[in-house]
Amino acid sequence: MNKVDARVPLLALRQISKRFNAVEALVGVDFEVHAHEVVALVGDNAAGKSTLAKIVSGVLTPDSGLIEVDGEPVTIPSPSAAHTLRIATVFQDLALCDNLDVTANLFLGRELTHSGLLDGGRMEQTARRILHDLTSRIPSVRTPLNTLSAGQRQSVAIARTLIGSPRLVVLDEPTASLSVVQTAEVLTHIERLRDLGLGVILISHNMNDVRAVSDRIEVLRHGRNNGSFDAATASYEEILGAITGATSQAATQDVRLPLSS
Ligand SMILES: Nc1ncnc2c1ncn2[C@@H]1O[C@H](COP(=O)(O)OP(=O)(O)O)[C@@H](O)[C@H]1O
Ligand SMILES: [Mg+2]
Repeated sequence: MNKVDARVPLLALRQISKRFNAVEALVGVDFEVHAHEVVALVGDNAAGKSTLAKIVSGVLTPDSGLIEVDGEPVTIPSPSAAHTLRIATVFQDLALCDNLDVTANLFLGRELTHSGLLDGGRMEQTARRILHDLTSRIPSVRTPLNTLSAGQRQSVAIARTLIGSPRLVVLDEPTASLSVVQTAEVLTHIERLRDLGLGVILISHNMNDVRAVSDRIEVLRHGRNNGSFDAATASYEEILGAITGATSQAATQDVRLPLSS
């Protein structure tokens, strides 16, 4: 998938700005993601990546600019508004409960009930199906979180987003603290999300991860768009140049089609 895409984006941000007192966290940022597409959002520390994620998730509201879902203007004034729009987010801190098992974590705050009682059977069944859909290798949905590795915890956090049948999943630095093997598993989950037809925003500053799974790479620098790349063709040096500012790109690069495929 590339920048010249006739389809209406699932989500579009147009000229989004957000300021924290003197800090311009985002300045006139444009961003799009389609269904069946993984868009990486990269940039150095303080580039504005998490701020963008929080705006999409309804945690922060932009000072100016437009948000569209399916081409229609929307506002996302709260996390529950994001949920209604079927936008789910995994934040950097994961927000999981260590003392609870996998199923309880997946349904935290959204427990299924039957005749006023918790429906443990149905929750476990759904948990198993979701982990299976994600091709997760977590041994049992009854495993307490505190016995899982950092990678497995990230899997649970990603699985949790699927409870609300989202159309768009935002992942903020999902591989930041993971080993190589754990990272590979999380990247597989991201590919599964795309296969399931979701749009994915992958925030990362690991170039290998980003190039492994994303279709398009959007660079932020000092809160501004600083390049848009087709992941299949962009070189490591080009992307790094945009991140560090060695190349300042007011406009998007020409789209080049992959040589093979
Ligand atoms: N709640 C906040 N209050 C004040 N400044 C903030 C807040 N959140 C982010 N910032 C500032 O906005 C800029 C962008 O931050 P952030 O979006 O977290 O960047 P990134 O995720 O790319 O590292 C940084 O300078 C950061 O210090
Ligand atoms: Mg961040």
